[in-house]
Amino acid sequence: MNYKIALIKGDGIGPEVVGEAVKVMDAIGVKFGHTFAYTDILMGGCAIDAVGKSYPDGTAEACKTCDAVLLGAVGGPKWGHSTNPDQRPETALLSIRKDLGLYANLRPAALRPALADACPLKKETADKGIDLMIVRELTGGVYFGKKDRYPTPDRGEEASDLMAYSEQEIERIGRRAFELARLRRKKLASVDKANVLETSRLWRQVIHRLAQEYPDVACEDVLVDNAAMQLVRDPGQFDVIVTENMFGDILSDEASMITGSIGLLPSASIGDRAPGLYEPIHGSAPDIAGQDKANPIATILSVAMMFRYSFHLSGEAQAIEDAVDAVLNAGWRTADIAKPGETAIGTLKMGELIRAQL
Ligand code: IPM
Ligand code: MG
Repeated sequence: MNYKIALIKGDGIGPEVVGEAVKVMDAIGVKFGHTFAYTDILMGGCAIDAVGKSYPDGTAEACKTCDAVLLGAVGGPKWGHSTNPDQRPETALLSIRKDLGLYANLRPAALRPALADACPLKKETADKGIDLMIVRELTGGVYFGKKDRYPTPDRGEEASDLMAYSEQEIERIGRRAFELARLRRKKLASVDKANVLETSRLWRQVIHRLAQEYPDVACEDVLVDNAAMQLVRDPGQFDVIVTENMFGDILSDEASMITGSIGLLPSASIGDRAPGLYEPIHGSAPDIAGQDKANPIATILSVAMMFRYSFHLSGEAQAIEDAVDAVLNAGWRTADIAKPGETAIGTLKMGELIRAQL
C-alpha cells in the first residue's frame, strides 16, 4: 500500500524526533512492502515566526489530503506570552483537533519491564504492573466552551469558561472506550464528577445506558478526585479509563509520570474518518532542542499506533513495539531514562538501533 503522511514537525525537539520516526516508518515500508509519501506542514511556534500565526490558513485542508498526521511537538517559552490566540501555539493544537474531528484521544501508559525501576511508586505497587489506556474526550467540554471576560460593578473583572457536553458527544467517546476495553482486559473506569457537575451527571447516564450494550465489559464510575488518588495508590487496577477533556488532560499527565518515562509515551487522536493524528505526549523540550539528546521512542511508538489505529496493520505496529522493547532490554538508554552512572546515547543512535532490530 501507498500512504500519504502529513508531518507537523513543530518546535523544539519536534523535528529531531519526527526525523527518527520517519526513518522507522521507511524501514517498516521496506520490510512489509509499503511506501510512504510525506508532506511537511507548518504549525505551532515555527508558524508564528514564519507567517504570523500558529495555525496557518489551509492547515486542516492540507492534513485532510493525507491518510494520517504525525506531529512532533509544538510550543515553547518563546511564544508563551501572547494574549492574541493566533499567536499561541496551543490554539493550533485545539484547532486541528476540532477541524479534523479528532474527538477520541488514546493515551496508553504502560510500565515497560526493562524500565520498571523508573516507576516512582513503591516497589510492591510497581510489581503489580501498570498497563492502562486513557481515552480522553478531545473536542468538547470546557476547553471548547464559550469564554468570557467582563467587568463587574464591585468585584473587579470576572472571567468564565463554559463546560458543555451533549449526549451525542458522550456516546461516541463512550462507545470508543467500550470497544477498546473489549480488545483489552474488559474493564472500563468512567471518570466524572457527578457529585457536583451537571455535565458529569449526563455523562454517567449515557455511559450507564451504553454499558447495557457491552455486558462483557465491567464498567465502574470513579469520581475524578478519587481517580487521581487511585492512580498513585494502585494503578494496576485500571485497564481503560474514559473521561471528559479536562479531566483526561490532567489524569493523563499523572498516568505518564507513574510510568517514569514520559519520553516513551505515544498518543493517538482519532475521529470517525481519516486522518488520525499521532504524537508523543511529551512537549517540545526547548532546553535540549538541536542537541541530539531527545528520546525519539514516544514518537516512534506513535507511528506504531498509527499503523494500528489508522491503517489497521497490527503486525507492523507490533514489529515497532518489539523493536523498541528489544533495544531497551539490551540496556540502551537516552539521557531522560538513563540512571546515574549509565551512559546515555543520543536521538540518532537510538533511532538507528531500533531500525536495526527491524
Ligand atoms: C495536551 C496539552 C494540550 C491540551 C495543551 C497544550 C492545549 O496539554 O495535549 O495534553 O490541553 O490538550
Ligand atoms: Mg496536557
